[in-house]
Amino acid sequence: NHSVDQVSLQAHELLTKFYHHIFSHAKEAETARNYINDRGLTDETIEQFQIGFAPDSNEITTQFLEKKAFNLQELVSSNVLARSDQNQIYDRMRGRIVFPIRNHLAKTVGFAGRSITNLEPKYLNSPESALFQKGKMLFNFDLARSEMKKSGQAILFEGYMDVFSAYQAGIKNVIASLGTSVTEHQAALIRRYVDTVVICFDGDDAGINATFKVAKLLKKVGCQVRVATIPDQLDPDAFIKKYGGKRFKEEVIEASSTYMGFIINFHKRQFNLKVEADQIAYMRLIVEEIAQLKSALDRDRYVREIAKMFDLSPGAILEDVDQIRKKQG
Ligand code: UTP
Ligand code: MN
Ligand code: MN
Ligand code: MN
Ligand code: MN
Repeated sequence: NHSVDQVSLQAHELLTKFYHHIFSHAKEAETARNYINDRGLTDETIEQFQIGFAPDSNEITTQFLEKKAFNLQELVSSNVLARSDQNQIYDRMRGRIVFPIRNHLAKTVGFAGRSITNLEPKYLNSPESALFQKGKMLFNFDLARSEMKKSGQAILFEGYMDVFSAYQAGIKNVIASLGTSVTEHQAALIRRYVDTVVICFDGDDAGINATFKVAKLLKKVGCQVRVATIPDQLDPDAFIKKYGGKRFKEEVIEASSTYMGFIINFHKRQFNLKVEADQIAYMRLIVEEIAQLKSALDRDRYVREIAKMFDLSPGAILEDVDQIRKKQG
């Protein structure tokens, strides 16, 4: 419904300014300001991303919206506000640092609320709505888009903070998914702007498994995929904070591995390569992957790598690869 969307957009725009104003000036936001300072975000970045703070109160936000002549019931219906079991209308972001989530037209359509107490979840995201369809949007896409196009490359992160840190360091072709796994819709959207995507997720198990899924998806839509690995168990934000943007560019982004390089290592984790049956199963998987490569030169390269790994003749492996390719036509 068009007018409901308009009202919701207006509410999000006003709330962005409201939260940001409170973050910047209110006494009660001092902890939030210190937190953001400690995390290394500059005033310029705070302004750029309109970082905010939602008052830790059940009334302040709703009173603000009422004063601006919004109908609170309507804002509950469009998921801007929440209703408690006790039937009270409240701001679900209350007490959290707020990151506005902008659509491709730079309009705020949702918020991510970072808890700075031990309140779970760590990030509370606005729920889905007609305006905020998480599987169809990318975080920071509006700002990253021109840089993506210019460089032909996108860097895909897991987190909001990763995007802020990289952007602040001058690396601007940076996007993230919105607290959900990447969808085919998002992959296709990225593909419209770039050839190459560097996946740069956290180095924990969750991050590595997610990388595998996203890598497959991005391949499927025709992207060149590269995978970055971050040393010392750091996430991109922590790496940049510790070593700076220059080293991040050189040692993480430029040093990222190819899709096949990643796949060869990823599948190793699932097998015990000292066991013969595992070796064979592993080889099968890798040979399947090699067969999908379009360039004969690339296929040859990885056939040799695998041959060397198991002390086999490249000729036999190449034969298997060619057989798979023939079957697929
Ligand atoms: P991470 O746990 O890696 O958080 O989640 P982070 O981005 O490094 O955040 P900081 O540095 O601790 O502040 C990665 C992303 O997953 C989503 C968010 O989009 C987050 O940025 N997420 C995570 C949620 O939506 N909810 C959560 O509770 C946690
Ligand atoms: Mn400001
Ligand atoms: Mn993570
Ligand atoms: Mn992280
Ligand atoms: Mn982090």
